[in-house]
Amino acid sequence: VRVSILGAGNWGTTFAIFANQVGIEAVLWEFDPQQAQLVADTRVNTRYLPGIAIADDVIVTSDLSRALDADLLVLAVPAQICRSVLQQMKQVGRRTLILSLIKGIEQVSLARISEICLQELDGFEENRFAVLSGPTIAPEIARGLPASAVVASASPPTARRIQEAFSAVQFRLYSSDDVIGVELGGALKNVIALAAGVCDGMRLGDNAKGALMTRGLAEMTRLGAELGARKSTFSGLSGLGDLVTTCASPWSRNRRVGERLGSGERPKDVLASLVMVAEGVWTARAARDMAVMHKVDVPITQAVCDIVFTEKSPGDALTQLMLRELKAED
Ligand SMILES: NC(=O)c1ccc[n+]([C@@H]2O[C@H](COP(=O)([O-])OP(=O)(O)OC[C@H]3O[C@@H](n4cnc5c(N)ncnc54)[C@H](O)[C@@H]3O)[C@@H](O)[C@H]2O)c1
Repeated sequence: VRVSILGAGNWGTTFAIFANQVGIEAVLWEFDPQQAQLVADTRVNTRYLPGIAIADDVIVTSDLSRALDADLLVLAVPAQICRSVLQQMKQVGRRTLILSLIKGIEQVSLARISEICLQELDGFEENRFAVLSGPTIAPEIARGLPASAVVASASPPTARRIQEAFSAVQFRLYSSDDVIGVELGGALKNVIALAAGVCDGMRLGDNAKGALMTRGLAEMTRLGAELGARKSTFSGLSGLGDLVTTCASPWSRNRRVGERLGSGERPKDVLASLVMVAEGVWTARAARDMAVMHKVDVPITQAVCDIVFTEKSPGDALTQLMLRELKAED
């Protein structure tokens, strides 16, 4: 198989290195020609994945047409950019599969990545789409540490093909047919991770963080079920698994953004300083809008939106969360 990874950021570069290690021919596409050239020449992606060597036989290019000739296209660009990349492609080969590594929801359209693929690519069918999600912090995988994730597709053979192609001794993949659940699990946990980071920044302690993660998972599950996901998916790798990792990891960008906000930095300064994408920021707004539309209560997501977009103080957001109407645990 020949695989093209679209997006040579932290995760896309890691995935290309990993694919190469398991014997798959990999092309890595980066939209910025200078950056692509630099990575191709130096065989290291200093901007997005410093200190990790990229094998000589991984082709790095900014020529999208060169990347399109593949059996599998792997999407590893930020969610808010994915549509514009697909619009440049317009269509893919009639047998080409697409695997999304993206963990986000598009603002305004409130579309998941699978929906964006169907909207933008002529003749593309949902049976050729899969999403991979789980606790997969890229720098750990790049260092060869063991990890596990889930691959979901509406077509079990598609999920199976990808599961078999990318499973290895250090990477164990499970399969699922719950595309909505796996896409939403990965996207929504970034919002809760941001909130967990706010807890860290405010030094609220481990009780508060444990409560936040638990109620965050309840919130993710509630919204997901309303949007057509299976509830049990949120107890799996793309839900609970990823949530635990992201809320704890010093590597998590979403958690770190929250930590900076919780320690008093202003949202616009934090956002302006980011080199790599923190999907939770934009997905918070999309998730809140989805929740409003479907009349689902998402207090933590709303608190994240208030802190990031209306500059509510984290202290006020916390007070508001704690003083809500008392209710049963569900
Ligand atoms: N980094 C991780 O550990 C990790 C793990 C799992 C999933 N993800 C998800 O993978 C996705 C990508 O994350 P990342 O960490 O690799 O992001 P990143 O910020 O490291 O890289 C983003 C990539 O997108 C490219 N890009 C930026 N603007 C572009 C444009 N206008 N057109 C085309 N390309 C553009 C950048 O050049 C870069 O190659 C996100 O949805 C993220 O949630 C990341």
